[in-house]
Amino acid sequence: MSKNDEQNSLKLYLQETKKINPIGIFDSGIGGLTVAQAVKELLPHEQIIYFGDTAHLPYGEKSRVALQAYSIKAVDFLLKHNCKIILFACNSASSAAFELIKEYTATRAKVIDVIQPVVNYVTTNFEGKNIGLIGTRQTINSNAYLQKINKENKNITLSSLATPLLASMIEEGFFNNTISQSVISEYLSDKSLQKIEGLILGCTHYPLIKKEIDLFFQKTFKNKVDVIDGSFIVAEEVRIFLEKTSLLNPYSVQEDIFYVSDLTKSFEETTKIFFKKTVKLELYKLWE
Ligand code: DGL
Repeated sequence: MSKNDEQNSLKLYLQETKKINPIGIFDSGIGGLTVAQAVKELLPHEQIIYFGDTAHLPYGEKSRVALQAYSIKAVDFLLKHNCKIILFACNSASSAAFELIKEYTATRAKVIDVIQPVVNYVTTNFEGKNIGLIGTRQTINSNAYLQKINKENKNITLSSLATPLLASMIEEGFFNNTISQSVISEYLSDKSLQKIEGLILGCTHYPLIKKEIDLFFQKTFKNKVDVIDGSFIVAEEVRIFLEKTSLLNPYSVQEDIFYVSDLTKSFEETTKIFFKKTVKLELYKLWE
């Protein structure tokens, strides 16, 4: 065998082994399971290694520097599992640490965030329109969506509103009831959101209240507001990348593993809200 042939067969071997490597998914807690669910539905053959930094949530109230430090630790953990792709399933972490993590990870794994794919969707479908964005304080104050949307020059006006109560409300199981309806109505009646034609759900917890938000707009506004749930948009981005790079796993799946940095019974019970079934959580302490 010539040296060239040897190198080519080694390359092929490495590519083949990489196919069975897992997809790493990272969030501040269990909200990112909505994205994991979408990935699972679209890519049932892929193994997921999920890491939720429950010891440090809520990320929405943390500083940029703290989120960067947590993200590096989480990504190191996922890289140790040989993840072929790492998905930031958290808007707060994406807005604070994605650029840094992309540089940090370099060629070791592809990193995808939840913001850019949604920005691509919005700039393709909402040219010249007014759209709204709701999310945690960190996501809104970072202006990450605004900067990325403006970069595309599509004459889109973005009205952003921090809705910090929503994530904990959902985690406590308050949705599809009168409490969630009044909190949603209070937030979405904000003057800044009166003329929007689309609303980005800028937090991975929010797909769970999408129906209630749809209903609120149907009742309140005459004009139609498209409520944009990024979970399938992001999952599709992952699928396209794996297909393009020939990294789709063609074999039968290994079991998904779900780690958290702080483990309580209530976290475990809450997983079924986000993932449609209860999952067994494993403890991995980020700082040990
Ligand atoms: N799931 C996180 C996000 O997408 C928010 C929850 C938190 O504040 O930790 O922003």
